[in-house]
Amino acid sequence: MFQDTYFESPTGTKGCFLSPEDCLYQMPDKDLIISTACPEDIPGIHALETVIEGPGAASRTALEERLQMFRDGSLVVKCDDRVVGYLQSTIWKNTVFARFAEICDFAKWHRNDGDELYLIFLGVHPKFRSNGLAGHLLACLTKLGKFYGLRRITLVAKNHLIPFYERNGFQTVKELPDFLPGEAFSPFLMQKRLA
Ligand SMILES: CC(C)(COP(=O)(O)OP(=O)(O)OC[C@H]1O[C@@H](n2cnc3c(N)ncnc32)[C@H](O)[C@@H]1OP(=O)(O)O)[C@@H](O)C(=O)NCCC(=O)NCCS
Repeated sequence: MFQDTYFESPTGTKGCFLSPEDCLYQMPDKDLIISTACPEDIPGIHALETVIEGPGAASRTALEERLQMFRDGSLVVKCDDRVVGYLQSTIWKNTVFARFAEICDFAKWHRNDGDELYLIFLGVHPKFRSNGLAGHLLACLTKLGKFYGLRRITLVAKNHLIPFYERNGFQTVKELPDFLPGEAFSPFLMQKRLA
C-alpha cells in the first residue's frame, strides 16, 4: 500500500515549480503533458523503465519508494495518458560515493535539508526520442533545484551521453570507474551549478 507521506515542497504545493508552458510539450503531431508523478503513474513508469532497461529495470517497489521519499522529484511525460518519459531525483547532502551499490537505497540518503539534487534516472520511450524531450525534462529539473534553493545538480552519465549533458549545462567532474562493475560504458560524474 502506498503511504502518502512524501516530502512537501517549501510552499506545500506539489509541482508548483512548473509553469503552464513547462507542462505542455508540443511535438509535430501530438501534445505531451509533463507533471509531477503520482502513485497511479507507477505502473506506467515501470513499463517504460522495462522497455528501456530490460532485465536491469528498477522494481515497482523501488520506483514507488523513490516517489514516496520526494514526490516533486519524479516527473512524468504522458502522451494520451501513457507514460512516455520520466525522471526521478533525490535531495541529499555531502554524499560522496564511488559505486551505485553505495547509493541505491536512495531513501536512506534523502535529506529534506540537503543542498544537492541528484538525478537518479532519466528515460524517454524510443519512439519519442530525438525531439528534445529529455532536454526539456532537464530544464524542468533545473527549475526544481532552483525552487528548492539547491546549489547544484549531480548525475552519473554514460560516457557517450557526456556531450548531451554538456549541451544541457552540465560539466564533467571525474570518471567513476567502479560505479557499475561489468557495464560496457564508462560512467562519469557530472554537475550543473544552480547557485
Ligand atoms: C538519453 C535519452 C534520455 C535522451 O532522450 P531524448 O528525448 O531523445 O533527448 P533529446 O531529444 O533532448 O536529445 C537527443 C540527443 O541526445 C544525444 N543522445 C541520445 N542518446 C544518445 C546515445 N545513445 N549516444 C550518443 N548520444 C545520444 C544525441 O545528441 C541526441 O541528438 P540526436 O537525436 O540528434 O542524435 C534517451 O535516449 C534514453 O532514454 N536513453 C536510454 C536511457 C538512458 O541512457 N538514460 C540516461 C541515463 S545516464
